Amino acid sequence: MRKPLVAANWKMHTTGDEAITLARGSRDLAGMDVDIVLCPPFVWLERVRDAVQDTNIQIGAQNVFWADWGAYTGEISALQLVELCRYSIVGHSERRHVFRESDAEISRKVKAVARAGMVPILAIGEDDSDYDAGHAQAVLRSQLVKDLALCRPEQLVVAYEPVWAIGTGRPASPEYAEEMAGFIRSMVAAEGLDAETTRVIYGGSVTPDTFEDFLNQPNIDGALVGGASLDSDDFAALVRTAAHQNV
Ligand code: PGA
Repeated sequence: MRKPLVAANWKMHTTGDEAITLARGSRDLAGMDVDIVLCPPFVWLERVRDAVQDTNIQIGAQNVFWADWGAYTGEISALQLVELCRYSIVGHSERRHVFRESDAEISRKVKAVARAGMVPILAIGEDDSDYDAGHAQAVLRSQLVKDLALCRPEQLVVAYEPVWAIGTGRPASPEYAEEMAGFIRSMVAAEGLDAETTRVIYGGSVTPDTFEDFLNQPNIDGALVGGASLDSDDFAALVRTAAHQNV
């Protein structure tokens, strides 16, 4: 039985005060049988970590650089992040599309995160045109194989996030997400990782109204949540749904 994981991706939102308020609000959720991961902007990582101190709530970064140290102005390495957090999102579609990150870079990032002893939350997903063309599984296979080319992390979370569902209010159907999550799990096994313990989570317009239907799918172990994670009531409802489902 895989423990559900609910990760909050705050993206480039929140002032410092807003971040602390959200983090403090989530303290009430600690102790539930759910892995909660808060991924604030880099600048609030330390304050958010302090705000959830003495709870089992975990902290994650939204991005990471692939080198450990060096003359890389503006970048932050996994060896720096590991002092503050246990997880890092890698390969989010906004990194792939807005910042043109390639699978080659993403694979180096996965390796850097694993090397630092952190857990990568590797985000993969097809865009609209690949979805329309019926190429989703080919895209997922290509991304997963290339992104894991340099390392097999001891622990890995894969976030299936169809690009067309992110921030659109138009989530995938739970059945479709399950089909893709099952496919990802078989790919994880084919890559030599432990498919039974690797968590595959869904992301893309997750809300409290729809989350239970996703969690009822056997291959979906939680969610990577953007918009709804910025509303403390919605985020609490998501975590409670996961806890309830896990009983
Ligand atoms: P969303 O974002 O929940 O706002 O669709 C998800 C994500 O980008 O991880």
